[in-house]
Amino acid sequence: MASGSDKAKAARLRTELAEHNYRYHVLDDPTIPDAVYDQLYQELLELETRHPELVVPESPTQRVGAVPVSGFAEVRHGIPMLSLDNAFSTVDIENFDRRVRERLETDGAIEYSAEPKLDGAAINLWFENGELTRAATRGDGTVGEDVTHNVRTIRSVPLRLRGKLVPERIEVRGEIFMTREGFRRLNESARQAGEKLFANPRNAAAGSLRQLDPRLTASRPLALFAYGVGTVTGGAMPERHSGILSQLREWGLPVAPEAELVTGVSGCLAYYDKMLKKRQELPYDVDGVVYKVDQLAQQARLGTVARAPRWAVAHKFPAEEQLTTVEAVEFQVGRTGVLTPVARLVPVFVGGVTVSNATLHNLDEMHRKDVRAGDTVIVRRAGDVIPEVVAVVLDRRPRVTHPVAAPRKCPVCGSAVVRVEGESALRCTGGLVCPAQRKESLRHFASRRALNIDGLGSQLIEQLVDAGLVQTPGDLFRLTATQLEELERMGERSAAKLLGAIEKSKSTTLDRFLYALGIPEVGEATSKGLARHFVKLDALMGATEAELEEVEDVGPVMAAQITAFFREPHNGEVIRDLRRQGVHWDESAKPVAESLPLKGKIFVITGTLADMTRDEAKARIEALGGKVTGSVTAKTSYLVVGDSPGSKLAKAEKLGVEILDERALTSMLTSQLR
Ligand code: IVH
Repeated sequence: MASGSDKAKAARLRTELAEHNYRYHVLDDPTIPDAVYDQLYQELLELETRHPELVVPESPTQRVGAVPVSGFAEVRHGIPMLSLDNAFSTVDIENFDRRVRERLETDGAIEYSAEPKLDGAAINLWFENGELTRAATRGDGTVGEDVTHNVRTIRSVPLRLRGKLVPERIEVRGEIFMTREGFRRLNESARQAGEKLFANPRNAAAGSLRQLDPRLTASRPLALFAYGVGTVTGGAMPERHSGILSQLREWGLPVAPEAELVTGVSGCLAYYDKMLKKRQELPYDVDGVVYKVDQLAQQARLGTVARAPRWAVAHKFPAEEQLTTVEAVEFQVGRTGVLTPVARLVPVFVGGVTVSNATLHNLDEMHRKDVRAGDTVIVRRAGDVIPEVVAVVLDRRPRVTHPVAAPRKCPVCGSAVVRVEGESALRCTGGLVCPAQRKESLRHFASRRALNIDGLGSQLIEQLVDAGLVQTPGDLFRLTATQLEELERMGERSAAKLLGAIEKSKSTTLDRFLYALGIPEVGEATSKGLARHFVKLDALMGATEAELEEVEDVGPVMAAQITAFFREPHNGEVIRDLRRQGVHWDESAKPVAESLPLKGKIFVITGTLADMTRDEAKARIEALGGKVTGSVTAKTSYLVVGDSPGSKLAKAEKLGVEILDERALTSMLTSQLR
């Protein structure tokens, strides 16, 4: 049996938890960290497990998944749940306000409660003597479905109203919704589990609400905003709608913090503009705003027609999603050479603009969504974000369609396209010749750390390319004073100065030249490494991927990019052209690699060394041009054997690989240094 003090403790914990829940969900102002809430909750749960007779229906432990129901019972609403008439324009709102004033026979400005129109599922909550007894969906407006078992699992729905002056019976109306972040997380885990994705937060909220198993609903990030009441008996209510919202908040029901009192059409329209601007920042989807005549006496005089009140209207935002048809899937080349799949669409008005192209982001996304020419797709444009294809409506796919293949050639310049391993991006290898990349590659070519052509900045490159004077880097060296002087803002003196800078840039170094070529992945440091290693450009251009990997910091991905770049005939032409124009550097140095004594030797180390760590041994071998790998193969030159060697020794013996003990290694390393 629970003692009196256990009973008091359970009651205290419940009150405390309810208070924190209220601060968190209604006031949005929690005073304790989530972890402390969880501790209090655990304490209560343990107490209740020890003494089940202490459990009461409004205990927060009673939210999580009761037993599944076999179907939804029908529930008749106390007062029907109405819908709203929609308005789409300023004129619609002016007409609405005029009709309101005519019916009320007043010239004075009307006060409206302006609220966000949440995009979720409508809910009707019965509270009897403060306790949540029933929750029902809207259904046909008169009869809905009993979803009490699910709604009890939603943390922001109070199981008991706060305060003493609660009515005997009240119907609270509101919207159950999912935040965008919650929706994103839900879909992310569905994707990982290979399950079906929800199209949008509204579908996810409505679907979660209509689950037979409340444990499933409990796992979904649902929330409530209350926006009105139905039946109220045995208690007084405020005379204004805005007062009702405040009252609901005091009773512990979450109300949208953006609700505001406004005056007249101008007040409504200003609110609309403000919310439209705020739309993307809100954590939840809002598909418009609602204006409600604030005085309940005026509402009563206006009454209802058909299923919508005359005293309220929904002012809709431009839809962020629309259906349209895909005409083709094409690949766009960006200024850095990345190819992006783009769906060409039958133009459609969405998110406030006409959209005829939508990005498919990258190959992986394109394959995942499997968008094909002829498909009907959902297009989304939210705020200023570029329009994207959300999904294909498979029911509407024509009988014959073809999956889109990744292009092998750049659609702009015809150069080979490579897909970098481990990256989902496709890339054109024609950086120096591809018109899509022309300006960017020229800007890079002339930049300070590349060929360093003083005075040749982005703006001038823009002008030169637009005037058709420069297409490839070689063209820069063919520019004449007459051509330059014809450009805007270019006088005789600045033209001469530029030509001087161009001439000067011809005398460069191999590493600057390599960097200037803009080989994908190859930055300044790598260019230096390559130049030091190969010294001659021809040697580098003829190197295999394995040879490239001998250079410090060059891994397989970069080696593949480099060979792909030099394999592209267009790039070879540009390089030849530049040399013909007189771009030159010193190739007389002795290649670093050739001068190193252990060049070409491959070492494997096994067992423990006495006088150096493996890392030290590796560093010393590499410093002399050798390479250290992890496993013994026929290509291994030496196996270095320390204390307690592993199976590598047997393998090396079998393959006839030369064996070195630590002393032999040390003497090899020191003698090589002399
Ligand atoms: S008032 C009599 N206020 O929009 C007024 N509805 O067709 C009835 N909704 O399904 C609704 N936010 O669930 C009202 N602030 C808000 C709302 C709102 C969203 C939903 C509601 C209903 C639909 C109206």
